[in-house]
Amino acid sequence: MLQAAREVLRKAYAPYSKFRVGAAILTTAGEVFVGCNVENASYGMTNCAERTAIFSAVAKSGPRLEILAVAVVNEPGVPCAPCGACRQVIYEFGPTAKVIFQTAQGWKAAHIAELLPEGFRLQ
Ligand code: THU
Repeated sequence: MLQAAREVLRKAYAPYSKFRVGAAILTTAGEVFVGCNVENASYGMTNCAERTAIFSAVAKSGPRLEILAVAVVNEPGVPCAPCGACRQVIYEFGPTAKVIFQTAQGWKAAHIAELLPEGFRLQ
């Protein structure tokens, strides 16, 4: 997964921040989907790598997506935890997913519920 995330990172569109991010998700079907960040001149329209990977997975495989794990890498290789919006989107498709990312103390694997306590769900 980390290798897949590193490969897709090269496709990132990040002319504003120059911070390229790649993400890979592993599904319960054993498939891996990837995504990179895609920025916009209207900065708020930027899509993070994690959400690109998840939306691509739905577009390719349909809505019955179940995420087991998410891996996030960046260039230049600094601490980079998923943002709040991505945590909520990960939670939607993987309420028990494990998220692997870089911290100041090294690589970390955390459960999404630890990163997003009481994530939102429509029942
Ligand atoms: N970014 C991601 O793609 N994923 C993260 O986990 C953190 C931030 C992107 C968004 C933006 O293109 C750039 O990093 C700088 O914030």
